[in-house]
Amino acid sequence: MEYTWPDFVTECNQCENCELARSRKNVVIYRGSIEAPVMFVGEGPGASEDEQGQPFVGQAGRLLSLLLDAYGFTPKDYHICNIVKCRPPENRVPTKEEARACMPLLAKQIRFAKPKIIVLLGSTAYKYFLTPQEPISKARGIWIEKSKFLIMPTFHPAFILRNNNQRILLWRDIGLVRSKMEELDLISPLHNEPEMPSGRG
Ligand code: URA
Repeated sequence: MEYTWPDFVTECNQCENCELARSRKNVVIYRGSIEAPVMFVGEGPGASEDEQGQPFVGQAGRLLSLLLDAYGFTPKDYHICNIVKCRPPENRVPTKEEARACMPLLAKQIRFAKPKIIVLLGSTAYKYFLTPQEPISKARGIWIEKSKFLIMPTFHPAFILRNNNQRILLWRDIGLVRSKMEELDLISPLHNEPEMPSGRG
């Protein structure tokens, strides 16, 4: 029998493959569209995400949405998710074992989302998704072609909330993603040059 998206959601909701299952309120799977040309991958749910069952809905998520909106992205353009689907206690970084336990679910998720472009938000996504040779500060903003995906590492919006002088770099990287999507006919071109928003979302 065919394995469908609802089957996948059930599998995620029933997952007990690591310790994080014990303390979670919700399994946080995605927001945006199930199938989308670009996938954004963060680290893991925080308190707001655990509460609401959706990724990037807290402070960092508001900043991400602010930047995506300013570039004219709409939810049909993206699929937002994380390396791990359950909140690490105290918002710590997921361990290697937790990331490894969650990876088969992320691999299935990618098969449903069918993105052409994958944006890795921050060093955790970068580290667990690729085998990095360089720190994210060096790798960000540069395309990597791997297994038919175009992958772009960039800063995590939570890092930008703490280091606002680097905001322009995240803004530019999302701009590169948008340009690539236009080039590949995955999104319609903007009529006006977007301006970087200065708020926190
Ligand atoms: N930070 C992340 O990496 N993911 C979220 O969903 C929220 C904050």
